[in-house]
Amino acid sequence: MAGVVRVVLRAALLWLAESVRAEEMVRRAPLTRLLVNRFVAGEDVGAALATARALDVRGLDCSLDLLGENAADEASAAAAGQAYLALLDQIQAAGLPGNISIKLTMLGLDISDESAWEKLEAIVERADELGMFVRIDMEGSEYTERTLGLFRRIHDLYPTAVGIVLQSYLYRTDRDLDEMIERGARVRIVKGAYKEPETVAYPHKNDVDDAFRRQIERLLDGGTYPAIATHDEAIIRMTQGYALRMSVDRSRFEFQMLYGIGRGRQEALAAEGYSMRVYVPYGTSWYPYFMRRLAERPANVLFIVRQLFRS
Ligand code: FDA
Repeated sequence: MAGVVRVVLRAALLWLAESVRAEEMVRRAPLTRLLVNRFVAGEDVGAALATARALDVRGLDCSLDLLGENAADEASAAAAGQAYLALLDQIQAAGLPGNISIKLTMLGLDISDESAWEKLEAIVERADELGMFVRIDMEGSEYTERTLGLFRRIHDLYPTAVGIVLQSYLYRTDRDLDEMIERGARVRIVKGAYKEPETVAYPHKNDVDDAFRRQIERLLDGGTYPAIATHDEAIIRMTQGYALRMSVDRSRFEFQMLYGIGRGRQEALAAEGYSMRVYVPYGTSWYPYFMRRLAERPANVLFIVRQLFRS
């Protein structure tokens, strides 16, 4: 029963993540801020860099993500591109080891492939000059094919400066993974966070977890510095065990987690000698990111409701 409630709540939250009216309500709710602050480092780049510095002190790497998706016009896509170029310089000037994560819809993918490509190319070119790294996040399945298309194109030009994300819940991912391993691309493997129909993605969590385990093993066997991005303790332990059995050195892969989730575990893994990178989102466009975090763990919603009743 609890499982059914979780599935329904997840679907509802992911649906609300796309609703403008729901966004207005959530933004106005008095206690939302409390929970948003758990998952989002702050509204400006200063807050993001301060978080990156604090993580660095604790032995954790980071990937900074300027929040935003689905730019509706060329002006906002261009502004996002400029903001990311500036961010690369700011990370470099601060002497921090962090890299960046970007979403192609924020750079104009809804306008056209070429709109997103222009900004992507400029960002990856600058990262390459600075010896930095750009990760292209993976969005909903309506964008998978075009995202991979643009990734192939940029990876051909800058093979060490850019990597991709693949989502285990998609049926297609085993095939995409083979291709990415073959081309030596750096892959971040995740379970997948969007609302997807059964025609493209496994509807049951067990199947997603099985695919995730299988794909992690494939990446540890033949991938190029893969990133295992999860807070799932059983899967973290499975990864550690498999790497040990197959003599995959800890320097050949990294774990990644989201800012605000599993802080103690992040530090413990780093202390054990694993590379641990924290994904640090910042900016004012936090709503869809925040709703996806609620959908992953509906207990977060109960937290809000409890706070509302208490106040
Ligand atoms: P799972 O959802 O099974 O959670 C395991 C445990 O982790 C839970 O029981 C809970 O304890 C804890 N946990 C998980 N989520 C939580 C939350 N929101 N709040 C509190 N506790 C939580 N997705 C995508 O589609 N495209 C992308 O580009 C990325 N990028 C990305 C980068 C990084 C660094 C990470 C860690 C994740 C992503 N994701 C993503 C999100 C990913 O697809 C997935 O939705 C989340 O990581 C949650 O899945 P878990 O693997 O943690 O397992």
